[in-house]
Amino acid sequence: MRLREKVALITGAGSGIGRESALLFAQEGAAVVVVDVNVPGGEETVAQVQAQGGRALFVKADVSKDAECRAMVAAAEDEFGGLHILFNNAGIMHASDDDAVHTEESIWDLTMNINLKGVFLGCKHGIPALRRSGGGSIINVASFVALLGAATPQLAYTASKGGVLSMTRELAIIHARENIRANAICPGPLRTELLMKVLNTDEKKQRRLVHIPMGRFGEAIEIARAALFLASDESSFVTGSTFTVDGGITAAYVTPE
Ligand code: NAI
Repeated sequence: MRLREKVALITGAGSGIGRESALLFAQEGAAVVVVDVNVPGGEETVAQVQAQGGRALFVKADVSKDAECRAMVAAAEDEFGGLHILFNNAGIMHASDDDAVHTEESIWDLTMNINLKGVFLGCKHGIPALRRSGGGSIINVASFVALLGAATPQLAYTASKGGVLSMTRELAIIHARENIRANAICPGPLRTELLMKVLNTDEKKQRRLVHIPMGRFGEAIEIARAALFLASDESSFVTGSTFTVDGGITAAYVTPE
């Protein structure tokens, strides 16, 4: 088991990448704190972890709220005695996120508050807990759009993910001598709720697929497996890195037919 005796807190674990990671981390021996604003989704993840014989606790928290982030970390320490893996995964892509001219200030603020401030608040409260546990691994979810401009405008989302990526590098440097590692995952387009509700017609899906060399969307479990490597001691010399898991999209100039 690759996460024996570790405690992992995963935000946005009521769906997609977060849920698959909760299931995988628990299979590898971790106790998992499942955090989400979606109560049925979070409870379902816990039920699935427990059904496979794992340990999990659901905590309802909005990552854009300071007090709720404090409470989620406290729950990890109270219930499981520490924190070793902080997986800042929660994020939104708002349907009204558009170009600079058309994006409402409220949509910009909402996106930044969840996607970028949420990672900051996770770290603000999580890092002291990681220290108390002797160190650990922070994994932040950015996106391929932090590396490449997207044809479909989603300015706030893209800016938020660029912020996550650069913040992760600085976190890694600040905490490098404390046995706390910080890495970012940049997923490519995935077949999860977040993207499929935006690409809601075959034509829209096809327009995105032509850019992916592998010719398919990624699966949440494929990101969870990358996160497992970063969470485990197998990545003990990996910090400040950008782990791109994108079916080749950022490597491509022209994709094969
Ligand atoms: P998802 O929509 O399936 O899961 C996201 C989860 O975050 C949901 O359960 C949602 O309720 C939760 N959430 C939303 N706002 C929250 C808040 N304020 N506090 C706590 N939880 C909140 O999406 P998916 O695809 O699993 O996304 C996970 C991460 O991966 C996000 O940060 C997303 O931006 C990123 N990502 C996704 C890509 C994709 O194509 N699906 C591509 C690149 C990055």
